[in-house]
Formats: sequence, C-alpha cells, structure tokens
Amino acid sequence: MSEARLGGRFAFPGTPWTVRRMGYGAMQLAGPGVWGPPRDPDGAMAVLREAIEAGVDHIDTSDFYGPHVTNQIIRKALHPYPAGLVIVTKLGARRPPDKSWQPAISRKELTAGVHDNLRSLGLDALDIVNYRAMGSVHGPKEGSIAEQVAVLADLQRQGLIRHIGLSNVTAAQVAEAQAITAIVCVQNHYNLACRHDDALIDDLARKGIPYVPFFPLGGFTPLQSSTLSKVAGRLGATPMQVALAWLLHRSPNILLIPGTSSVSHLRENLAAGQLALSLELLAELDGIVAASSEGHG
Ligand SMILES: NC(=O)c1ccc[n+]([C@@H]2O[C@H](COP(=O)([O-])OP(=O)(O)OC[C@H]3O[C@@H](n4cnc5c(N)ncnc54)[C@H](OP(=O)(O)O)[C@@H]3O)[C@@H](O)[C@H]2O)c1
Repeated sequence: MSEARLGGRFAFPGTPWTVRRMGYGAMQLAGPGVWGPPRDPDGAMAVLREAIEAGVDHIDTSDFYGPHVTNQIIRKALHPYPAGLVIVTKLGARRPPDKSWQPAISRKELTAGVHDNLRSLGLDALDIVNYRAMGSVHGPKEGSIAEQVAVLADLQRQGLIRHIGLSNVTAAQVAEAQAITAIVCVQNHYNLACRHDDALIDDLARKGIPYVPFFPLGGFTPLQSSTLSKVAGRLGATPMQVALAWLLHRSPNILLIPGTSSVSHLRENLAAGQLALSLELLAELDGIVAASSEGHG
C-alpha cells in the first residue's frame, strides 16, 4: 500500500518516529464493552496482522483495555514487533470487576501501570505513554495534572518510558505538562460532530505536535448524518471513509487511530487515506457540527 493511501506521514517531535497518518486503535479488540475475551480472538489477531501488512506503523492501546486482553492479543499477533512500529499506550485508569472505568493516578498505580504494559506487550521500554486524565470520562476537565506527569517523567528517566503524551486534557493542562517534560502527542475526543478542540489542534499544529482524535468515527455509536451520507454517496465512498478523510484534511498534524474488530472495516478505513475532498465538500461537511449542535445532525 502506497504512502499516499495511508494519508502521508507526520513526526512525533523529538523522537525517531515519523509515522503514517493512518494508524490503528486497538481498543475494540478486547471485546464488547472493552472487556475481554473477544468473541473471535483469531479474528482480532487477523485485524492487527492485516494492519501491519498494509503499512500501519502506529497502534494505540492500553493495558486497561480488556483489562490486559488487548495488549496480550497485540503481543501474540505481532511480537517480535516489526522495526518502526510505534505502540502508544496510556495510563490513568483501571477496570474493576464491575467493568467501570476508575481513575488510577497515584504514583503507585501509575508505576504498576507501566509494568503491566511492559509485561503484557513483552517490551523493555514503552515507546509513548499518554497520561489519560480522568477528570470526566469522555471530556477534559480543568485541574492540575502536574503530579501525575512528574511521575511519568520519573519513569522516563528510569528508562521504562521513552516519550510522554497526554489524553483527555485541556490546553491549560498541555501547557502545564510541557513545563515538566516534552509532550509528543495529545489524544482527545474529536470528530466531524465534536469540534471542541479546534483551537487546540491549530495550536499543536503550529508547534509540530500530533493531535490524535479518539472516537474519530463517533466511538461506540458511529457517526450518523444525512450530510455525511450524501457526500459519501456522491464520492462513491462510505460515510466512515468520508469522516476519516475529513480529519486528514482538517490539519496535517492529525494522526488517525480508527478502531475496528473487523478486517473488512479496517480495509475500508485505510482506503480513506486516498480520498480527496474538494473545498466545496469540506465546507458542506463543516456544516455538520452546526447542525448537530442544534440537534439535527
Ligand atoms: N484516550 C482515550 O480516552 C480513548 C478513548 C476511546 C478510544 N481511544 C482510542 O481511540 C481508538 C478509536 O476509538 P474507538 O475505537 O473507540 O472509536 P471509533 O474509531 O470512532 O469507532 C469505532 C466503532 O466504529 C465501528 N467501525 C469502525 N470502522 C467502521 C467502518 N468502516 N464501518 C462501520 N463501522 C465501523 C467499530 O465497529 P467494528 O468493530 O464492528 O468495526 C466500532 O464500533 C480506540 O481504538 C482507542 O485506541 C482512546
């Protein structure tokens, strides 16, 4: 698969890695409710192998997906990892037996989280670890994250983490973290219908820092919009492909990690990397956010 098909490349600053903009998010591999095991473990491994074969070199995961299960599947499918593959994981949450998502942000929990990820992924050091703030589940909430970022910076000095990113954070929290250590990426909720981070994306683009939207397709309930469907119909593409192509056009620092447990959806999503959107179509798609904020998405 050519470079252009995967949306070109963008670098994580201060790292050796310039990855293809079309990556893969592994959360869906854990199974329903992100609680393992999946119904089809062989199918999950097939998705990962197909992604790598297609040229994907950026996988997003966490040991709290499953819990442990997603990382174990990644290890089983891909270890020893191909040269150049960047695995980004995250810390800050835990999954108790009631399957809820709870904060795990003490020094002890963050340190244990690093060791859990190292063990389940079969690594000596983690490429990039995002500190996932748990202020609110799907949206950031102001409040200091300095203590937790400082713990990650300590773990980085110990050689267990190579680089640090952030997730579910505000612009003020990004600035606070940058005063402690270099931040190589930011992963927040963003898509065609959820545009709260427009200013943050532009600011990070000026600084050469990747912005990695989670829920790029709308998450557990994929995006539905008559405008999206109409544009897709005109292009002979699917609505999900147009949603991904719109993100690639939105800003050059956007790296995609669409999640899927299906090989056919993976192929469809990767093919979105070559979908060109005219200025007219982009303007039409930009209208979706206005409509959805009025409740007509
Ligand atoms: N930092 C955070 O707090 C955070 C939070 C959530 C997610 N994430 C990361 O972001 C990644 C992406 O988010 P996500 O997986 O939750 O949401 P997403 O990528 O927006 O959407 C995934 C959903 O869309 C479906 N889907 C995928 N491709 C499709 C296609 N071509 N046609 C129709 N349906 C399709 C998937 O079902 P199928 O499996 O049936 O394809 C799944 O239900 C995750 O994998 C995870 O790595 C991070």
